[in-house]
Amino acid sequence: MNQTGPTYKGTFVTLEGPEGAGKTTQVKLLSKELKALGVDHEVTRDPGGTALGKQIRRILLSNDYVVAPLAELLLYQADRAQHVAEKILPALERGALVICDRYIDSTVAYQGYGRELDFELINTLNQMSTQGLTPDLTILFDIESADGLSRLHPGGHDRMEREDIEFHRRVREGYRKIASANPDRFEILDASKAMTTVQEEFRKILSTHFGERHRLAEVMTRI
Ligand code: TMP
Repeated sequence: MNQTGPTYKGTFVTLEGPEGAGKTTQVKLLSKELKALGVDHEVTRDPGGTALGKQIRRILLSNDYVVAPLAELLLYQADRAQHVAEKILPALERGALVICDRYIDSTVAYQGYGRELDFELINTLNQMSTQGLTPDLTILFDIESADGLSRLHPGGHDRMEREDIEFHRRVREGYRKIASANPDRFEILDASKAMTTVQEEFRKILSTHFGERHRLAEVMTRI
């Protein structure tokens, strides 16, 4: 797959969305079932998919630092460079279905639309850190910002979640613009619906695109 970047046998799916869209919960549920069915897969997240990345994630989300926007951008990219090289590409090369919670579009949405950093710079860095690896499919879990934020854990918010509502609105609108500019790569899912409905739609999308290649039909029948 993949037209300009590295070649591989597997399938690369990324999940995107504003805060509180529920993608992490969905991917955890799915992973359990894929495991039970013996489907070769890797569920991972950006930032924090490697041992090095976990440290970077801790720094990025900590409320102990005031992080300059450019430093923030470079930290996300450092995490991604390690993640692609150490985990994502090897799994794709062996033929696995790789599902990554956030990837390059998060940087365009948060650092581009949210922080208003230069899009050309972001695209150049995204290209570098990923070695040109673009997802085969990206699912946008779309939810209105206030709705998503209201679903977050009450016990405290990380540095990104604490940004004001206007920042989060720019992120959400940014995602919608990215999706409409890349209709071949994106599927949009209404994440404001009930959890079981989202679960069903998420699986339907995966199974429609990759059911045969990764034996996902069985997963569909287990909802
Ligand atoms: P999450 O994985 O729990 O959603 O937390 C990651 C946070 O980092 C989330 O607020 C989105 C943000 N983020 C960026 O700002 N830029 C990025 O490139 C990525 C991957 C995430």
